[in-house]
Amino acid sequence: MARGGPAPAAIPRGVAIVTGSSSGLGQALARELHRRGWRVGLVARRAERLEALATELGEGTAWAAADVRDAPGLFAAVRKIERALGACDLIVANAGTSSSSSLTRLDPEEAARTLRVNVEGVVHSVAAVLPGMLERNAGHVAAVSSLAGEVGLPMAAIYLASKAAVTRFMDCLRLQARPRGIVVTTILPGFLATDMLDGTRFPKPFLLQPDEAARRIADGLERRKARILFPWPTALAVAVARRLPTGLYDRIIRLLLPVPRPKNGSAT
Ligand SMILES: NC(=O)c1ccc[n+]([C@@H]2O[C@H](COP(=O)([O-])OP(=O)(O)OC[C@H]3O[C@@H](n4cnc5c(N)ncnc54)[C@H](OP(=O)(O)O)[C@@H]3O)[C@@H](O)[C@H]2O)c1
Repeated sequence: MARGGPAPAAIPRGVAIVTGSSSGLGQALARELHRRGWRVGLVARRAERLEALATELGEGTAWAAADVRDAPGLFAAVRKIERALGACDLIVANAGTSSSSSLTRLDPEEAARTLRVNVEGVVHSVAAVLPGMLERNAGHVAAVSSLAGEVGLPMAAIYLASKAAVTRFMDCLRLQARPRGIVVTTILPGFLATDMLDGTRFPKPFLLQPDEAARRIADGLERRKARILFPWPTALAVAVARRLPTGLYDRIIRLLLPVPRPKNGSAT
């Protein structure tokens, strides 16, 4: 395995499919992987954005519009990209959506939509390529979870629950797939300056630009890491928080992120 240098080549560069590559982190990661010599397949719903990115990147790209909730549609999109570029060596299940649910706005439909995109979307993305990888006894499956999903916070409960589910799904997959020659990577970023956080007002310590995040992720993927966590101060804070007794953790969070009390005194 080659080490060091600007573009480590831990796995031969081949075909990488990135879901959610029409904006934000997925778009930056598609650019970064292409810059490093990967042939890149782009998947998301906004076709015009995928087409524009494919045109910008040029040779070695293909795109197909799909909704990750729709398994047959996603499978067809992946097959279309594989016909154009070759069998998928690396998939990054990055497509995701946020949810602003709170106790007073716990909308079941919105919750279901978030869980379907963030959890089922990852499962569908993996399912689209895993049989081929198992046949070849080779391949790399990665999913974008979140450091926020490692702890409870007084906000975005459904989003955090969806990311916790993704992390646990990938943990199980890694244990099952590694002996069959398949690398599994869970990506756990901190806050990223993307459309997803537009309009949010909570504190975002150590906010990273998507380009920087994409470089770190590409480095970690090419080193076949099981988990890619960044930035380190957020990862460290989360690791410490997970080891605190629940009562102490809750008291600290209540000080850092106080929940406003409505005038009638009921919970939010
Ligand atoms: N921003 C953060 O602070 C942060 C932190 C940790 C982890 N993450 C994770 O990073 C990933 C990328 O998010 P981002 O921050 O880059 O936000 P973003 O700019 O909003 O990107 C989300 C991407 O997901 C795609 N997408 C959403 N719903 C989809 C669906 N049903 N089917 C197919 N594609 C869908 C969107 O494309 P279309 O709308 O064109 O379909 C878009 O390309 C997400 O999984 C997110 O949870 C974000």
